[in-house]
Amino acid sequence: MKRILIILFSVSGIATLAQTPIYLNPNAPVEDRVEDALQRMTLEEKVAMTHAQSKFSSSGVPRLGIPENWMSDGPHGVRAEVLWDEWYGANWTNDSCIVFPALTALAATWNPSLAELYGKSIGEEARYRNKNVLLGPGVNIYRTPLNGRNFEYMGEDPFLASAMVVPYVSGVQSNNVAACVKHFALNNQEKYRDYINVTVSERALHEIYLPAFKAAVQQGKAWAIMGSYNRYKQQHCSHNQYLLNDILKKEWNFDGVTVSDWGGVHDTKEAVNNGLDMEFGTWTNGMNFGKSNAYDEYFMAQPYLNLLKNKEASEEQLNDKVRRILRLIFRTNMSSERKYGSFGSPEHAATGRKIAEEGIVLLQNNNNILPIDIEKTKKILVVGENALKSMTVGGGSSSLKAKYEISPLEGIRLRAGDNAEIKYVAGYESPPAKEQDVKDAKEPQYKEIDAEALRNEATAAAQEADIVLFIGGLNKNSGQDCEGDDRISLDLPYEQDALISNLIKANPKTIVIIISGNAVAMPWVNQAPAIIEAWYNGTEAGNALASVLFGDVNPSGKLPFTFPVRLQDNGAHALGDYPGDGENETYKDDIFVGYRWLDKENINPLFAFGHGLSYTTFDYGKAKTDKTKMTAGEQITLSISVKNTGTREGAEVVQLYIHDKKSTLPRPVKELKGFKKILLKADEEQIVTFTIDKNALVYYDDGKGEWIVESGEFEAWIGSSSADIKYKTVFELY
Ligand code: GLC
Repeated sequence: MKRILIILFSVSGIATLAQTPIYLNPNAPVEDRVEDALQRMTLEEKVAMTHAQSKFSSSGVPRLGIPENWMSDGPHGVRAEVLWDEWYGANWTNDSCIVFPALTALAATWNPSLAELYGKSIGEEARYRNKNVLLGPGVNIYRTPLNGRNFEYMGEDPFLASAMVVPYVSGVQSNNVAACVKHFALNNQEKYRDYINVTVSERALHEIYLPAFKAAVQQGKAWAIMGSYNRYKQQHCSHNQYLLNDILKKEWNFDGVTVSDWGGVHDTKEAVNNGLDMEFGTWTNGMNFGKSNAYDEYFMAQPYLNLLKNKEASEEQLNDKVRRILRLIFRTNMSSERKYGSFGSPEHAATGRKIAEEGIVLLQNNNNILPIDIEKTKKILVVGENALKSMTVGGGSSSLKAKYEISPLEGIRLRAGDNAEIKYVAGYESPPAKEQDVKDAKEPQYKEIDAEALRNEATAAAQEADIVLFIGGLNKNSGQDCEGDDRISLDLPYEQDALISNLIKANPKTIVIIISGNAVAMPWVNQAPAIIEAWYNGTEAGNALASVLFGDVNPSGKLPFTFPVRLQDNGAHALGDYPGDGENETYKDDIFVGYRWLDKENINPLFAFGHGLSYTTFDYGKAKTDKTKMTAGEQITLSISVKNTGTREGAEVVQLYIHDKKSTLPRPVKELKGFKKILLKADEEQIVTFTIDKNALVYYDDGKGEWIVESGEFEAWIGSSSADIKYKTVFELY
């Protein structure tokens, strides 16, 4: 009897399985599921998938049980829920997230394994919140220190940004959440961002502005890419033939979806024909503010359906878009291994703290004034608005509703405990800012700020303290580190320079802590005994900063971008390109961005790309190579010993730069082509090895339209920063 039952059951089981449509069979290959679902869909269902149905979602196919796609900002945490058709928060009570450090801080760790952990953690938060597309990370290259969104990106160097974005993407996607790498491409400023037409050489495009996106796609296997607002070759990048079809989908074999930036679509035929798959954030006819988002009027909604019905667009072209969207769904929401995620967890907070601690950069530490010896320091004065100003809100679309946020002042108080008296004075104040994403938010009342009185109060208090911790920098207010506009100066705002100078005069033991996502000018740099770049470090910012200040953590961060002494030391400003005339901007600095420019012009930076000190010291030995000649098909192994010659454990980022001694086209003096972060106990020595192959030697010849490598002599430069080269060795390519 039993056997009969088993046979009956298994027959019916097989029958059931046989009746299950392939697209619903979790064990079927994704591509089979895509094709099966596609052939079941109507024309209207296909078109509906290609555009938003709400602020952050697009249609599934309810009839077939195919779920919607839900997107969410952003690169540093999962944005609070917003109302269906508004930017305003929906005031949920269960969407307060862990805020991770800004991506400049992640880049400053120079630690790809932390980038993977970052991606995994933020992906868990997105998965738990039922978002299958995370609108991040951003990897636009830091071309000008004025760009309001540099804090969301990974610095000025394409090699570093590439090395850090790949593990972030795979970490996010390990949760069945798509990383949507943005903003593709050439979105290197916020001023005129909606329409500025960028002109740049093919060489600079391929050597500087595309590599991080290419790495995200080809190595990180990113499932989504967001087109940017600006134009390139006179076409908006959210529907750009050259970038989306020729390069991304054809040359790079991208099989994911292209998503417009919100409001980045301006024309139906361009959107349909130039590689766009999903349209979001359009204002109805795409040109006027004010009209509410009428989703059927989207460029890829009824207008697209009309084109199809009039045979002015092919269903085959539509099918390619829908295949990509279905692939996204079967990789995420309908994946057979769909994860559950986790949200607001202590583990995620600990991850954020670890990244923050490793990203903080000790820029200057004369006479080892840091770390603070809590046994001998009884009166600590904390000065500056950024010691307690929230940095998790504002800044534009990356603004977040934090589960909690430890301010620097709180972190210092928690760490010092009863061992020291902590006093706080503002010292300076920024004007009140309007709350972002809050319905009916009031314009802030004008407030008279007596900067001199604030300054004098702080200066007087400084005389009484054992040590002064000035905590200032920029903030997320518009015109600072904020989306939608750029800074107007390299200088610190709110008269902070005068305050810092006064504090140092009143108490030479004044530590300057800058919280920012951009470089700032430091006219007081020679008077300040110690300077720290502390980034926007999110939920655990205060604890991470205190850990470094009091020496629980030995700082190991290295700058992901140059701090120029003055704006004119930056190529985009020296050549007068930035910000363009409102219509066009030519990147005349070309490939000479960041340290590449300063090297070319022989300018000393205030603080160099790759610079960062430690509470210990490192000694570099001589580099050795296994050969001094190589063909293009071979590689050279370079090794160098590094010793911790200090008294405490510390991490060092050993950097490899390549110098091409002779080339047909001009090349930067040096380019980052490798780095290794090593942890050494006091007195410990390690051998660090690098493999140099032709990929480290090539450059893009835009005359030939290809990457080329030229024989001849090269030098490998090993350094602790781009300006602190410890050893050079020559080798030849033949
Ligand atoms: C914004 C940003 C983009 C963001 C999107 C949705 O304008 O440019 O980074 O993901 O719109 O908020």
